[in-house]
Amino acid sequence: MPTKYQAAEELLENKIILITGAGDGIGAEAARTFARFGATCILLGKTVSKLEKVYDDIVEAGGQQPAIIPLDLKGATAKNYQDMAQTIIDQFGKLDGVLHNASMLGHLSAFSDIPETEWMDVMQINVNSAALMTQALIPALRKAQHASVVFTSSGVGKKGRAFWGTYAVSKFATEGMMQVLASEFENRGLRFNCINPGATRTKMRASAYPAEDPMTLKTPADLMPVYLYLMGDDSLNVNGQSIDCQPK
Ligand SMILES: NC(=O)c1ccc[n+]([C@@H]2O[C@H](COP(=O)([O-])OP(=O)(O)OC[C@H]3O[C@@H](n4cnc5c(N)ncnc54)[C@H](OP(=O)(O)O)[C@@H]3O)[C@@H](O)[C@H]2O)c1
Repeated sequence: MPTKYQAAEELLENKIILITGAGDGIGAEAARTFARFGATCILLGKTVSKLEKVYDDIVEAGGQQPAIIPLDLKGATAKNYQDMAQTIIDQFGKLDGVLHNASMLGHLSAFSDIPETEWMDVMQINVNSAALMTQALIPALRKAQHASVVFTSSGVGKKGRAFWGTYAVSKFATEGMMQVLASEFENRGLRFNCINPGATRTKMRASAYPAEDPMTLKTPADLMPVYLYLMGDDSLNVNGQSIDCQPK
């Protein structure tokens, strides 16, 4: 049961793991957690001050010194990702894991009212960037013995819901991208899976449910057993799965 998984202290030792959206919410907690279990984290995100705070947390806790990649996924191009991948190979020689976590919610509204710009931005940040980044990172991932790529899905990426328009469509696309990659790389030393965090106490959740009492929700820390399970070698045979952190 991945939700009850207990990771060995050295689970992620010698692993290099890239986390997108590492400055806040679930991504920040994942970065701190991966570092606590021995990983060297590459913190990618939009707001440098937030990334620096996570960097300091990791160093203060005695973790491996992280790297920071300030990047706004909205404007990033394939060339940006290729340059980033080359820098990772030059600096670390390989990449053992990617957590595609950064996402934009957009506004909840009737489908007919979704502005074109918002549709484009949400798809760019949630889907296109993860696709182009994954393409660019495959050579670095193939240099690791057993690399794990984890995409972040959502309940509305498995069953559509009124007013969740672009975000829901982007999460269906994420599930689809994961399945295509998992099938393509089966038995080739690279695995691809999705995590659905479920309702979690973060800024994104608060913006979707402003009237909700956040204290009733799981925290990002509560979800970490599943993140550790998929990132470490205990999940070597798990490929093409979508795992719920809070199964009903
Ligand atoms: N929280 C939930 O209840 C819940 C439920 C289901 C799925 N999820 C999924 O879980 C993941 C994490 O969500 P969260 O709740 O932790 O959200 P969050 O607290 O809003 O954090 C999102 C992160 O993504 C980054 N990001 C957003 N736009 C970006 C861009 N253009 N370029 C680079 N980074 C960008 C943000 O950076 P800045 O802070 O610098 O803007 C932030 O670090 C998302 O994929 C979300 O869809 C969350």
